[in-house]
Amino acid sequence: MINDKWSTNIELHCIHCPKTYPVNEVRYLCDCGGLLDVWHDLENLRPQINRGLFDGRLHGAPGRRVTPTTDSGVWRYQEIILPTPVNNIVSRPEGNTPLYEHPRLSKWVGADNLLLKHEGENPTGSFKDRGMTVGVTQAKLMGSRAVACASTGNTSASLAAYAALAEIPAFIFIPAGKISAGKLAQALAYGAQTLQIQGDFDDAMNLVQQVCNEMGIYLLNSLNPFRLEGQKSIPLEIVQGLQWQSPDWIVFPAGNLGNTSAFGKALYEAQQLGLIDKIPRLAAIQAEGASPFYQSYQTNFAERKKVKAETIATAISIGNPVSYTRAMRALQWTNGLVASVTDQEIMDAKAMVDQVGIGCEPASAASVAGARKLIAQGVIKPEESIVGILTGNLLKDPTATVDYHTGGWPNAQFANAPIKLEATLEAVQKVIGRKL
Ligand SMILES: Cc1ncc(COP(=O)(O)O)c(C=O)c1O
Ligand SMILES: [Zn+2]
Repeated sequence: MINDKWSTNIELHCIHCPKTYPVNEVRYLCDCGGLLDVWHDLENLRPQINRGLFDGRLHGAPGRRVTPTTDSGVWRYQEIILPTPVNNIVSRPEGNTPLYEHPRLSKWVGADNLLLKHEGENPTGSFKDRGMTVGVTQAKLMGSRAVACASTGNTSASLAAYAALAEIPAFIFIPAGKISAGKLAQALAYGAQTLQIQGDFDDAMNLVQQVCNEMGIYLLNSLNPFRLEGQKSIPLEIVQGLQWQSPDWIVFPAGNLGNTSAFGKALYEAQQLGLIDKIPRLAAIQAEGASPFYQSYQTNFAERKKVKAETIATAISIGNPVSYTRAMRALQWTNGLVASVTDQEIMDAKAMVDQVGIGCEPASAASVAGARKLIAQGVIKPEESIVGILTGNLLKDPTATVDYHTGGWPNAQFANAPIKLEATLEAVQKVIGRKL
């Protein structure tokens, strides 16, 4: 152990060159400019890790004190995420999200076997909590004086909550006017200092990196490899929830490409450790107006595209994704692909997900719109098993939802506008009569 805080089984490894760094060094990039991975000594871990170890932690006794290894869907896998003594961990606890199935939705998508993993049911309403519990735990282990991130909203909501829990000051850089009301409200409420930058997400991202380097603040964007370690728990929970049988596909929205990278790494490691026999294929779905990764994919990654991002799905409105190279590797490991969907397709898919009683924020619906498109194109076969990820909660972006249902989208297929009427029994009876 180094200082009794981290296991000696982990290090930071550059994904481009052979350089390695100790786990207790504050560092987000290699000297060569390459992105870093948290590297686990899989050879050493193999004899200790098996399905039974993680299954044994699944059900804690009701009513007893919450502990991270038994109650968090992230720390259940801590040996392959961030091995540290339990009393160091900052956890809500997060994860353990449900897998939903709905026949009407599956029919609309054209899939015989579609499950939706609802990451919007995490403590702050998005999957970001899975990365943040690990990132803030690492910040605490390093004795950081403050933490910061640039964010399209969900990261800031999550960082604000976990920093408050750990009692570490948090600074949040958001693109002014480009984040939804629900997310801004969370950052303010949880007490983070919020800095509204006159620019887009990519400007905020550049700025926060400079500030963190200059001022010794710990950066908790998904550039930070510890965040991605936490996000690995999404596919781990999926396969464990399916009794360690991999689905054929995992379909999810892609913006800064943190999930793409984390999912690929998790599945690669899980196979290396013998937890799964087959690696599911990843389908990363981008919004057409924010699709640099899709456009690069179309050139077979010969060219790295950057765009000025514009989409209703603000959470994935990113023009120059940070984890680009890590995500390319993830596609290789998983025989994955990238697709893009229009804002109209996203909003109609969201309305369907909402209408069946599940609900999600706009970016999340890219998963469902993407699965539908890939099935229609014959890329995914209807009989193949698909797990779609709903990354954020319906309540995150009320403005986009209300707009869709009240005439903001002229071609909205599933609009459910409110009816205005006089406050009389007769008027109400007439309206309800017409509906029944
Ligand atoms: C709701 C939601 N979906 C998807 C994403 C995109 O995830 P990633 O940046 O890991 O590609 C984000 C990230 O900001 C998000 O908040
Ligand atoms: Zn390097």
